Amino acid sequence: MESSKDPNLSHPTFAMITCAVGAESAVKESATSDGWRLAFSRPGFVTMKHEQSTEPPQGVFVRTASRSIGSVRGENSKTLTGKLIEQLEESLPAKRPFQQLHVWPKDRGPIGRFDFEPGPDEVSQAVSEEIFPILKDDWLTCDHPNRIAESGDRVLDLVLLEPSHWFLGWHVASDWHSRWPGGIQPITPIEEPVSRAYYKAAESITWSGFAMRPGDTAIEIGSAPGGACGRLLELGMRVIGIDPAEMDPRISENPKFKHIRARAGDLPRKIFRDAKWLLVDSNVIPDKTLTTIENIVTHRGCMLEGLLVTLKIGNYDAVQKIEQWHQRINNWNPSRVRVRQLSRNKVEVCFAIHFQR
Ligand SMILES: C[S@@+](CC[C@H](N)C(=O)[O-])C[C@H]1O[C@@H](n2cnc3c(N)ncnc32)[C@H](O)[C@@H]1O
Repeated sequence: MESSKDPNLSHPTFAMITCAVGAESAVKESATSDGWRLAFSRPGFVTMKHEQSTEPPQGVFVRTASRSIGSVRGENSKTLTGKLIEQLEESLPAKRPFQQLHVWPKDRGPIGRFDFEPGPDEVSQAVSEEIFPILKDDWLTCDHPNRIAESGDRVLDLVLLEPSHWFLGWHVASDWHSRWPGGIQPITPIEEPVSRAYYKAAESITWSGFAMRPGDTAIEIGSAPGGACGRLLELGMRVIGIDPAEMDPRISENPKFKHIRARAGDLPRKIFRDAKWLLVDSNVIPDKTLTTIENIVTHRGCMLEGLLVTLKIGNYDAVQKIEQWHQRINNWNPSRVRVRQLSRNKVEVCFAIHFQR
């Protein structure tokens, strides 16, 4: 925890947030109810001000949250870097070096549209390599930009709104998303994933903290073509995929995989009896999905320890439904429930639901 006497924590606090394009109104709504006042924003990027709070706002749709230092504009990276150092020196009177430097672009469009995926791009990589040696001596203790931060690290954040317009801020790393550059899990699959759901599953598994082990049985409802099952198999689990659609042969031919070609709601509950983990990613309306899961988890013989449930919101005007879904899930007597729009989620949220067994 930062000391309240830290001269870098003077009031008011300015915050900068990155989120999925389209989620800005949901971010603003939850933050303004906590007393934040809106300032500059762009699709996928929101800034705000608070007179008292020193902690940047959090929320289901917040991907990254930093204390904002300011922004710089310039025609070339040399001008921008010069202005950036001036900003740092002016804004942070106590010159305490940061343990990490994270540089990333704000999302340039909604996830999935024209195959857009969030994360570093060529420009952000070039900028990070250019500014790192300049900042290194006075402002950084790391040996490379864009490393995964340790919990407790102070991270200098640079968000590229455009190549000629940068926003500078900082945060203290704590949970996984705040440790990853731009809140995006850096992951290199062993083989080409069957679908983008591989990344979504990987992110949800890490974020949940579920102790998934080789040999455990995991079931996925809505498993075709098999990206997420690919991740579960990579982790050494036995996997059952439930989906009326066909699986990719790279998954169906794996001896640790079994395909049940059916709709989940039509199956007897004993199918789920020996499973420890359940992933749900079917394109079915959330209330129907929750009814299917409710029938499974409220059954006496259910041994499930953890559920990772993707629910399609449909559109961002319907975010108030999340609270109703949350309450319905609470009725199943879980030990912990968390909800977040994962960085790889389209217009959907992921519930991580843990049961004490
Ligand atoms: C977004 S895709 C799933 C992607 C998949 N998780 C992967 O990793 O590649 C949604 C899937 O849900 C399946 N689905 C729709 N209704 C279903 C139901 N009632 N039970 C099981 N699967 C269902 C669809 O056939 C479709 O394959």
